[in-house]
Amino acid sequence: MFTIVEKELLAPGIHKLQVQAPLVAAKAKAGNFVMVRVHAGGERVPFTIAGHDPKRGTITLVVQEAGKSTKAIGMLSVGDVLLDVVGPLGTATPIEPVQRLVAVCGGIGVAPTLPLLRAFRDKGTQILTIMGARTRDLFILREEVESVSHEVIYVTDDGSSGAKGLVTDALTELLEEGRKFDQAVAIGPARMMQATCKVTEYYGIPTIVSLNAIMVDGTGMCGACRVTVGGETKFTCVEGPDFDGHKVDFEELILRQAFYREEESRITVESQHGGEDCQCHSS
Ligand SMILES: Cc1cc2nc3c(=O)[nH]c(=O)nc-3n(C[C@H](O)[C@H](O)[C@H](O)COP(=O)(O)OP(=O)(O)OC[C@H]3O[C@@H](n4cnc5c(N)ncnc54)[C@H](O)[C@@H]3O)c2cc1C
Ligand code: FES
Repeated sequence: MFTIVEKELLAPGIHKLQVQAPLVAAKAKAGNFVMVRVHAGGERVPFTIAGHDPKRGTITLVVQEAGKSTKAIGMLSVGDVLLDVVGPLGTATPIEPVQRLVAVCGGIGVAPTLPLLRAFRDKGTQILTIMGARTRDLFILREEVESVSHEVIYVTDDGSSGAKGLVTDALTELLEEGRKFDQAVAIGPARMMQATCKVTEYYGIPTIVSLNAIMVDGTGMCGACRVTVGGETKFTCVEGPDFDGHKVDFEELILRQAFYREEESRITVESQHGGEDCQCHSS
């Protein structure tokens, strides 16, 4: 049983869970994710393994409420169980020893960035992290990011914390000032990763991105998560989710992410009222 042993609200609609999953915790590496099913009949949803503790047998998941399944997870408490936690899935990110890394992360993208930062730090890399959010209350995992980074720059859309602007503004400013980096990591919404990659490509900085493609089985069987990288079709769930950002066809990814939006919003509304989980029977 995959029992929730700790739960913390990080920001409105964003939860940090410690989940008992000893076999996953024993094998997890930076870049891996799990497929979670909350209850029988539910869909499988992918979450990055944001941390793992093999001794305790737990993994850390950071879950942002987006639709039916993530909202169901948000309603669980300590002691409740998740029906399935399958993993670790995906290809672990190869961590080359580099001297200077710049990590650019936005919103919930901080969670998948953390394991990469820890892995680079363990190789002795100097890390500068640029964290972006719409407003200061939406920053998450600040302490954890500060503990693995040598420098952190905060950026908000509304200027409520750090500089006002976008993460790409802060990155461009640093590079224009002459700061040098051997490697970049960019994780967040697809448009943010795309914009970051444009900047890093111009400055010739190799960039790892983590693609949040729509997934169904998570095991390479259904093809739902296919993306184009360097002109070749790749399955994000087995060959990713981390890829060379300069080779990713982001326009295609963004189009495919929107593919089921209408159905998803319908399911979310139905599940709140009149759907299979509805208790009111009045619709
Ligand atoms: C490899 C990977 C790792 C991920 N890690 C995390 C994580 O650590 N924490 C976290 O909160 N979320 C993560 N996601 C996104 C998460 O899986 C989706 O938010 C979730 O599947 C939405 O399910 P739902 O039923 O709640 O919402 P749905 O009703 O299915 O969707 C609601 C909204 O979320 C969007 N959405 C659906 N699936 C995805 C997806 N795969 N990626 C991005 N947006 C999606 C839909 O387009 C829609 O707008 C990850 C996705 C991938 C592919
Ligand atoms: S999710 Fe089915 S092939 Fe990747």
